[in-house]
Amino acid sequence: MDDRLWTEVDRYVGDLLAPHDDALEAALRASVEAGLPQIQVSPPQGKLLQLFAQVRGATTILELGTLGGYSTIWLARALPPGGRLITVEADPRYAEVARANIERAGVGELVELRVGPGLEVLPKLDAEGAGPFDLTFIDADKVNTPEYYAWALDHSTPGALIIADNVVRGGTLADAGSDEPAAQAQRRLHEMLAAEPRVGATTIQTVGSKGYDGFTLAMMR
Ligand SMILES: C[S@@+](CC[C@H](N)C(=O)[O-])C[C@H]1O[C@@H](n2cnc3c(N)ncnc32)[C@H](O)[C@@H]1O
Repeated sequence: MDDRLWTEVDRYVGDLLAPHDDALEAALRASVEAGLPQIQVSPPQGKLLQLFAQVRGATTILELGTLGGYSTIWLARALPPGGRLITVEADPRYAEVARANIERAGVGELVELRVGPGLEVLPKLDAEGAGPFDLTFIDADKVNTPEYYAWALDHSTPGALIIADNVVRGGTLADAGSDEPAAQAQRRLHEMLAAEPRVGATTIQTVGSKGYDGFTLAMMR
């Protein structure tokens, strides 16, 4: 089994169950044309995020790591009229591409895009009284995933979902000796989760067009 097969299966599932409409297709095309890295979630993963938001009945969503707004569009489409999604992106150039993609997808009214490093933007959101959120998707700089998770814990509704992507990192999650800071951060996240009575959580390993990785799902009790 290899990446090629995983990609083929992702394509099969995506074509049938998570097909792109014009807006999603245009968002990816614009991101490629602008030279953004192609590190957005896959179509089946985007659909999974949307389903999580729908199962939760989310009306408020926080996303850390916008890139070109691909996952933002999937998530925003789960919101009811009057819902709110705040997405945070450190790179102003990426944010500009995302803004256009989000507008083109017709969800601009629901989405607030904040530009700046997450650790600087979150205290501002706090000061503004933003949240609490029904779903938080953590997909920014992986070394700070534990910090984003800790913030989300204090800014979530009962029953809220907190999802962190790319936590398995090619299996280094299970390697206590790994000196990769992002892998150490995911181990710290798991230790925090294990010690936290306010959440139930698990991590699922994934393969697909994005290779071998995995995500953590935590639910506020
Ligand atoms: C994996 S990509 C996000 C992909 C996006 N969620 C999607 O699936 O369409 C990670 C993004 O986080 C951004 N990022 C990196 N460091 C950040 C930080 N400190 N604060 C906020 N965003 C950051 C990167 O510029 C990049 O756009």
